[in-house]
Amino acid sequence: MSTSIFLLWLVSIPLTIHAAIDVNQPQGFLLNCGGNEKIQQDSLTYGPDDRFIKTGNKSEIKQEGLVPLLSSVRHFPADAEEKFCYNFPVNKGKKLIIKTIYYYGGFDGGTEPPIFDQIIDGTKWNINTSADYADGLSSYYEVIMVAQNKVLRICLARNEHTTSDPFISAIEVLYLDDSLYNTTDFGKYALVTLARHSFGSHDKLTFPDDKYNRHWDPLVDDNPVVTSQASVTPTTFWNMPPEKVFENSVTASRGKSLVVNWPNFPLPKTYYYLALYFQDNRTPSLYSWRVFDVLVNGVKFFSNLNVTTSGVTVYSTTWPLEGETKITLVPANTSPVGPVIAAGELFQLLPLAGRTLTRDVSVMTDLRKSFNKKPQDWHGDPCLPKDKSWSGVTCSSGTNARIIALNLTNAGISGALPPSISKLTALSHLWLGSNELTGQIPDLSSLQNLETLHLENNQLEGSIPESLGKLPKLREVFLQNNRLKGSVPGSLRNKNGINLKVSPGNEVSS
Ligand SMILES: *[C@@H]1O[C@H](CO)[C@@H](O)[C@H](O)[C@H]1NC(C)=O
Ligand SMILES: *[C@@H]1O[C@H](CO)[C@@H](O)[C@H](O)[C@H]1NC(C)=O
Ligand SMILES: *[C@@H]1O[C@H](CO)[C@@H](O)[C@H](O)[C@H]1NC(C)=O
Ligand SMILES: *[C@@H]1O[C@H](CO)[C@@H](O)[C@H](O)[C@H]1NC(C)=O
Ligand SMILES: *[C@@H]1O[C@H](CO)[C@@H](O)[C@H](O)[C@H]1NC(C)=O
Repeated sequence: MSTSIFLLWLVSIPLTIHAAIDVNQPQGFLLNCGGNEKIQQDSLTYGPDDRFIKTGNKSEIKQEGLVPLLSSVRHFPADAEEKFCYNFPVNKGKKLIIKTIYYYGGFDGGTEPPIFDQIIDGTKWNINTSADYADGLSSYYEVIMVAQNKVLRICLARNEHTTSDPFISAIEVLYLDDSLYNTTDFGKYALVTLARHSFGSHDKLTFPDDKYNRHWDPLVDDNPVVTSQASVTPTTFWNMPPEKVFENSVTASRGKSLVVNWPNFPLPKTYYYLALYFQDNRTPSLYSWRVFDVLVNGVKFFSNLNVTTSGVTVYSTTWPLEGETKITLVPANTSPVGPVIAAGELFQLLPLAGRTLTRDVSVMTDLRKSFNKKPQDWHGDPCLPKDKSWSGVTCSSGTNARIIALNLTNAGISGALPPSISKLTALSHLWLGSNELTGQIPDLSSLQNLETLHLENNQLEGSIPESLGKLPKLREVFLQNNRLKGSVPGSLRNKNGINLKVSPGNEVSS
């Protein structure tokens, strides 16, 4: 299943460079796509992407003063309708924050960026950078998910709107501490970042202030800004916001409610993960705390929140929102000071696409290695997303997709059938006729669901496996025009209602 994401946020890596400082790098992968060497962007080092992808071409963007990270792209020429995948070796079960960064820059001589799909572990969304590009901005997309496998696949694919080469400028795959956003069921959902703001702040906060390179955008509205006299300890803070996020907060005067209209764009009606971060900005003392209610669009989000100088988070894992959003902080009657708020994060809950049974994926990987001249789109997940499954592959639906048919009739493939093909136990139809397959027919005795088997018009050798006769559902077997020898096993010949073809073209006695 693929789910469309209505809101594709996220703009602007600055196009020009700041001073580079050397700081310890975060754990994970930072790729400068299409680049030939390491580059420095602020305090992060991005390496070339060749180790992670085999396809695509590199292009440079010649634009005066453009930061190195955006100065090259990898793009995927139009001759094949393929899915193009990066493969990252990751720790299964670990939480990742993934950013994909796009800056078109007219690398192909055009004036409009192409529209295409991005697929991360089977979950797809539309990449449309036109509006940002027209505004002179780069675009980025961010998602937080738990690695479902040992390999994380980030793919680009054409869709019906794609008119030129899909491209990508940079990728970040960084590990997040397990405790972050841990109330989300990451077995079922990913979190797509929609907004992350530091209220009352003028500067964007990134790495190294945020050790996971989460970007905290500045948000200045009409509310008074206060500066903090106390510091927080991010490691003991729920979701570990960076200390600097608390440097400024917005506030309202004594007795008044504080209203923050955030985020500043309308939201489609669905469920969101919403986290708000607070700190009393005064010098720590016995009296430096304040109490207020938190309302979201007039609905109680948290009652009598006691905010001290060590700070506090309130969050909801699944909060319904629609349209404009208004955060209102209503002070308790007794409170001698007005409410304050330092920062907020908003994510859309994105149901995961499900995945293909791991064993089926590894058999297909085996097949891909075994076959010569295999179809060009045999990359990424064989089944997902649904409309981008490998050609010749049919899969069951549901969260654990299985391969139920493989049909590469007359597809020009050569090579041998690996024995592991017998592990595709959900297979009902195996059609590999009219190719140049060589070697023997492997033992297929575990294909208990197999109904039709077509291996005709190849160069297969050896004998017809005895076990074929024992497959309960098998009703059609075409083996003619190979180099098979021996005799047709009795169990197959005598099978009730079987449509069996072994001749012409073999040396098989019946
Ligand atoms: C892409 O690279 C291939 C192989 O290096 C080359 O043959 C092809 O001409 C390139 N295509 C474009 C559009 O640059
Ligand atoms: C892409 O975005 C532009 C600008 O927002 C919009 O005009 C266009 O319709 C979008 N294209 C598609 C296919 O969504
Ligand atoms: C989530 O993280 C918080 C903060 O580190 C921790 O107190 C809590 O026990 C964690 N909850 C789960 C379910 O792991
Ligand atoms: C708020 O927290 C502070 C510090 O823990 C405490 O001294 C104070 O009594 C609390 N106020 C209320 C109204 O609970
Ligand atoms: C397999 O593909 C061939 C050629 O496209 C087609 O004739 C045949 O019906 C297909 N078989 C199945 C089981 O779909």
